[in-house]
Amino acid sequence: MVSIAEIKKYPIPQHVAVIMDGNGRWAKLRNKDRLIGHQQGAAALRNTLEGALELGIKYLTVYAFSIENWNRTESEVSGLMNLFVKTCKLELPTLQKHNIRFRAIGNLAMLNKDCQNSIRVMEEQTMQNTSLTLLVAISYSARWEIANAAKCIAEDVQAGKYHIDDIDEQTVSQHLLTRDIPDPDLLIRTSGEYRISNYLLWQIAYTELYFTDCFWPDFNKEQLFEAVSDYQKRERRFGKTSEQL
Ligand code: IPE
Ligand code: IPE
Ligand code: MG
Repeated sequence: MVSIAEIKKYPIPQHVAVIMDGNGRWAKLRNKDRLIGHQQGAAALRNTLEGALELGIKYLTVYAFSIENWNRTESEVSGLMNLFVKTCKLELPTLQKHNIRFRAIGNLAMLNKDCQNSIRVMEEQTMQNTSLTLLVAISYSARWEIANAAKCIAEDVQAGKYHIDDIDEQTVSQHLLTRDIPDPDLLIRTSGEYRISNYLLWQIAYTELYFTDCFWPDFNKEQLFEAVSDYQKRERRFGKTSEQL
């Protein structure tokens, strides 16, 4: 196991994004309901968040529910939504205690009123917190986010705020839900799948990718340290050559 002291000798990623996958398979292996897997997943997030704080990571963005996940069974979807509301209530004091800011990104209008209220309360109550920002991607899809940005830009042009020729990469970035947040340095996907599943497609252009077979409910701070340590061994070239860095 890598120690925090060892990791802290090298640059810590400022922003870590996570695809928390494998809750269902974790439960199936144990002959349990998928929802038990999701509950354990919430516990794994708590531990991972603790690890992120210990390392001094500034932004942790977690994929909790995709727009595509709305196609799951009614009972799984409602179970997940209830778990979200319950977890928000339960964890608010912990977020306050650790000075963590909460933010939700996604097509939030698709969520039920209880979820929307939870998000409003969590965002309002933690607005001033500064140690780490926890972004929860819920009812999120990157293609939806990008299409939405295109719509907003078109509206701005129509309203005469700027000209078509002024649109550049920065304009697009500024119309995404992550407009004021640096791009992820590291993306972790659990459960042994090697895909992005419509997550932060614009933002991960130069993100380092880390895949692990571990199912999300088994993930914890030690695994996070392992991923960060792996990240620290990489050379990020952004198109340049080694010699130019
Ligand atoms: C991730 O675990 C959580 C959500 C997508 C909500 P899954 O529920 O996708 O678990 P698997 O991939 O079926 O094992
Ligand atoms: C991605 O997991 C979404 C979340 C972790 C919330 P999925 O389980 O939905 O992804 P696919 O369907 O395997 O690509
Ligand atoms: Mg999955």
